[in-house]
Amino acid sequence: MNRIISPSMLSADFGHLDRDTRMIDRSRAEWIHIDVMDGVFVPNISFGFPVLKAIDAASDKFMDVHLMIVEPERYVKRFAEAGADLITFHAEATSDPQACIEMIRQAGVKAGISIKPATPVETVEQWLPMLDLVLVMSVEPGFGGQSFIGGSVEKVKRLRSMIDGGGFSTLIEIDGGVGPDNAGMLFAAGCDVLVAGSAIFRSPDPEATIVNMLEAK
Ligand code: DX5
Ligand code: ZN
Repeated sequence: MNRIISPSMLSADFGHLDRDTRMIDRSRAEWIHIDVMDGVFVPNISFGFPVLKAIDAASDKFMDVHLMIVEPERYVKRFAEAGADLITFHAEATSDPQACIEMIRQAGVKAGISIKPATPVETVEQWLPMLDLVLVMSVEPGFGGQSFIGGSVEKVKRLRSMIDGGGFSTLIEIDGGVGPDNAGMLFAAGCDVLVAGSAIFRSPDPEATIVNMLEAK
């Protein structure tokens, strides 16, 4: 099983973006999570291409881009050019997820699909053979600092058995309300990648918190 931590830059200090990016770069987190919000798919706006490029320039980590935008296919190429290693879009945000997955792969980037808390995992089952990752949202997307929705663990377990049963190599990522207290339980339930924003950036020692999450029982 994998154990990967993907710190969410949504909780970084934007006045010190370079400092916070370099801190993550020194840490044992393998990925860096970038939340893009358009104010339409979610009731919040975060940041776009110039900020992604600045983070990419300051980091050697695998750039994990989580798009919370409508019609993600319109911007796949530009996110690839901005440094994305993985582009994850929402199943609820496009009328043709398969075309979007194909477009991401054609751009030479890994492809992920995300589901909101109310969307069943069965929705994405048909695309598992083509997907590098499924992102299970464990809060309503749009904001950091919310509480983990308990029912998400059952979704992870169902997804794990679909992936293992089908012999796929799709990774499972979880995002929202994750930190050292539930990291061990989430890895045990079948997650490969844990996203954490406030738990890491609001802790007095973010690098130690990342280690605590990696080693959580
Ligand atoms: C929320 C974002 C998350 C967010 C998580 O829509 O997708 O990545 O940064 O924040 P925490 O870890 O604070 O719940
Ligand atoms: Zn996210």
